[in-house]
Amino acid sequence: MEHCKLFLLLIGLSCVVCGILSDKPRNVLLMMADDGGFEMGAYRNKICQTPNLDRLAKRSLIFNDAFTSVSSCSPSRAALLTGMPSHQNGMYGLHQAENHFNSFGDVKTLPNILSTHGVRTGIIGKKHVGPSSVYKFDYEQTEENNSIFQVGRNITYMKLLAREFLTNSTEPFFLYVAFHDPHRCGHTNPEYGEFCQRFGNGDVGMGKIPDWQPIYYVPEQIELPYFIQDTMEARRDLAAQYTTISRLDQGVGVILKELEDAGHLDDTLIIYSSDNGIPFPNGRTNFYDSGIREPMFMSSPIHTGRRNKVTYSMASLLDIVPTILDWFNISDDVEIDTNEILESNRGLTGKSLLPLLIQEPSNYTDEAIFASHNMHEVTMYYPMRAIRTKRYKLIHNLNYNAPFPICMK
Ligand SMILES: *[C@@H]1O[C@H](CO)[C@@H](O)[C@H](O)[C@H]1NC(C)=O
Ligand SMILES: *[C@@H]1O[C@H](CO)[C@@H](O)[C@H](O)[C@H]1NC(C)=O
Ligand SMILES: *[C@@H]1O[C@H](CO)[C@@H](O)[C@H](O)[C@H]1NC(C)=O
Ligand SMILES: *[C@@H]1O[C@H](CO)[C@@H](O)[C@H](O)[C@H]1NC(C)=O
Ligand SMILES: *[C@@H]1O[C@H](CO)[C@@H](O)[C@H](O)[C@H]1NC(C)=O
Repeated sequence: MEHCKLFLLLIGLSCVVCGILSDKPRNVLLMMADDGGFEMGAYRNKICQTPNLDRLAKRSLIFNDAFTSVSSCSPSRAALLTGMPSHQNGMYGLHQAENHFNSFGDVKTLPNILSTHGVRTGIIGKKHVGPSSVYKFDYEQTEENNSIFQVGRNITYMKLLAREFLTNSTEPFFLYVAFHDPHRCGHTNPEYGEFCQRFGNGDVGMGKIPDWQPIYYVPEQIELPYFIQDTMEARRDLAAQYTTISRLDQGVGVILKELEDAGHLDDTLIIYSSDNGIPFPNGRTNFYDSGIREPMFMSSPIHTGRRNKVTYSMASLLDIVPTILDWFNISDDVEIDTNEILESNRGLTGKSLLPLLIQEPSNYTDEAIFASHNMHEVTMYYPMRAIRTKRYKLIHNLNYNAPFPICMK
């Protein structure tokens, strides 16, 4: 009996030691919603059903004050993947079609930096940034070579792609899963409904997404955000948005299941957030909090002390690059802490969020987030800069005589 205990103790000890010493791969899964907000149980919405996001939140640090640095899709994603605000990485507006914005050809991006450090990189879903040499992933299944509906909203299709990526992953990896849900689609595909809530629901002509059990909502029961006017039209829109959020939620569930089945739940940092505010008045393309405040969870397999706790520290999507580089212990390659626009000096302006997984700061007095907006569509020039601390916020409208352009797509 005593021998047995000793033996178990030794095994236990040696595993602790090997855990510390071994070069166990440490991976990252970054999941992004497209125009997603706080419509989930984890952020106290009692109506919208999001059991998978809520479960992820329970094993994460939950951010109360996370912000994007720009409230528009391509600029936000470019900032996310470079760690630099729009005016520094060059993505001033949307990437697609006639808008045609791209980042500078010489900016360093997360996928490119990680690749040079032996991390296998993959993107599944909406890319919406360029040029492709600057944002180059080893594995790319995006709107550039797939239907955006399949790669961004068909959670079964996305699941199979994630399986393909994860099956062959021997090295450390970075997988970026960029859902197209819950973006509007009424302007391109009205047959699927304003938020594509009917796509794949099994009705005649809608096709079927096998992994999705649609959930429908009653407009009268919606939790109306404080910045949206209480009209029946708005409530109907939000009910449709909730249905699409529930598909996103089930998508998060199947992707996490793939991660688990591939044996990587215990060596992967998981981050969930969204690119900008919800597509309603005062939301996306605005610098009001309703336009830039984002949901964010961060779940680490090794920092478990603050799971299901909330941080009130000011965080920015610009912090994601420094956080992931910190996670992979990469520091040699990028200058941190500079805000110069000079070509020779484009560095990261954010900070690693990993310390928050261990301890909440004692106060937030020195904390601020910054935002920089120029355009959404190419015709929607409305430059703004903002700084927000815990207590104060300044929005500087550089061209304040111009009419504010409103985009409801
Ligand atoms: C998309 O491009 C990648 C290469 O980046 C390729 O492996 C994949 O098969 C392509 N997918 C489709 C559907 O063409
Ligand atoms: C994964 O590996 C298998 C077996 O080696 C191979 O057949 C398949 O093409 C690989 N898939 C990808 C996406 O690399
Ligand atoms: C979703 O993807 C699966 C797997 O590729 C496919 O069987 C299904 O028909 C797709 N659903 C829709 C609505 O396109
Ligand atoms: C991180 O990298 C530095 C040098 O680049 C190295 O000295 C250190 O041991 C690494 N830390 C871990 C935990 O791997
Ligand atoms: C806030 O915390 C920092 C260090 O974390 C400390 O230097 C500073 O004095 C604190 N400020 C206040 C007002 O407590």
